[in-house]
Amino acid sequence: MSRQWKPSFCSQDPQVDEDHRALFKLLDQLATHRRESDLEDLNGLLDQLLEYTFAHFSREENAMRIAGYPKLARHSEQHEAMRKALIESLRTVARGQVALPTFIQHLKDSFTYHFETDDMTFVTWEKARQAPEKKSDMPIQAGRSPRRGPLPTYSLGPGC
Ligand SMILES: [Fe+2]
Ligand SMILES: [Fe+2]
Repeated sequence: MSRQWKPSFCSQDPQVDEDHRALFKLLDQLATHRRESDLEDLNGLLDQLLEYTFAHFSREENAMRIAGYPKLARHSEQHEAMRKALIESLRTVARGQVALPTFIQHLKDSFTYHFETDDMTFVTWEKARQAPEKKSDMPIQAGRSPRRGPLPTYSLGPGC
């Protein structure tokens, strides 16, 4: 089943969101090439995918470093494993050991899984870190309940 972009992938970081959406777009473009004979035509797209993926991982790790994310080392290891898996998968396709549609579907599934799990763990942590503390400027008056209302909402990155 083809997996689509979902608003729940959006984070607090517009650059991360832009990267994820661009990666989805590239994967969708790749998915339109389903025949083995398309492989040569795919070289440009695959180069873009590699370049963009590696640049995105660096930007995401940098955002985590700046934010002081405690799981940065683990996340970096996952990115490294994905880099190696991507390169190895490309080699198996080039050798004719894995069918092109299988490779593309697996790639999209593994990227989406990473967005939905590990990246979202960071997004959730970052949202909690940025949430304003629940303090009232007004002292609570005797006999009155503190104001109750909806929880604050957070603005999402452009395009989300
Ligand atoms: Fe990530
Ligand atoms: Fe990411």
